[in-house]
Amino acid sequence: MKIAIFGGTGDLGRGLAICFAAAGHEIVVGSRSQEKADQAAAGLREALPDGTFIPMENVDAAAAGDIAVVSIPWEGIDATIPALADALAGKVLISVVNALKFGKSGALAVQGDELPGGGPSCAHRIQELAPEARVVVAYNNLPAAGLQARHHLNADVLVCGKSKAAREEVIELTKSLPGARALDAGPLHNAIIIEGSTALIINLNKRYGGEASMAITGLENAPAIEH
Ligand SMILES: NC(=O)c1ccc[n+]([C@@H]2O[C@H](COP(=O)([O-])OP(=O)(O)OC[C@H]3O[C@@H](n4cnc5c(N)ncnc54)[C@H](OP(=O)(O)O)[C@@H]3O)[C@@H](O)[C@H]2O)c1
Repeated sequence: MKIAIFGGTGDLGRGLAICFAAAGHEIVVGSRSQEKADQAAAGLREALPDGTFIPMENVDAAAAGDIAVVSIPWEGIDATIPALADALAGKVLISVVNALKFGKSGALAVQGDELPGGGPSCAHRIQELAPEARVVVAYNNLPAAGLQARHHLNADVLVCGKSKAAREEVIELTKSLPGARALDAGPLHNAIIIEGSTALIINLNKRYGGEASMAITGLENAPAIEH
């Protein structure tokens, strides 16, 4: 599958790119600038010589990908998504975007009116701006460094989206990430819970050290995390 990553030059985008490419997917490394995309793709090829990394500006990447990932800071949503919307019609569009701010007391989840479009979540705003895309929220809680190093993540990926078929596509795709198990957590309405929970994870990392992520226990009929 050809996976376009908007903001594929950034920390999380490069982490997802390496893992997906290692599993045999072709990666379109998207950026606002062709030069930055070229540089990031060159770095990714160095890290994974067998991987396929195609650098493009975000607009061209949206057309090239079979599926796409938005991996940009939340402040960039309104300026970025409208130009991509037509090319994304009908495609699964994964949002990893978390709206966070950082104060003296730690990371805080941005809520309500402060969110792009007035909320209720970044993923909801992305769906509003790309109405024909099939938006799914996923990977919000995974650590960029662990992905880049292709560590065994031992993590659950909570997946929310309006379309059950789109959620299932993302659950299948997540098998490409080492040690990650994707779970269907229902409609896009609850995306804010997943996005905001990343503030907790950042604060836990700061307090106790390490690379925390989410793990759900007690699901008798869910597949186990592969070790
Ligand atoms: N880092 C993590 O561990 C992690 C984990 C889970 C989720 N996330 C979420 O994933 C998203 C990306 O995180 P990141 O750490 O990779 O961020 P990042 O490195 O700060 O930014 C990613 C890329 O976004 C583009 N970008 C920056 N500002 C932008 C703007 N105003 N408008 C449009 N594009 C812009 C840049 O690419 P170009 O300049 O090349 O366009 C940049 O390389 C965030 O929403 C974050 O909350 C991060």
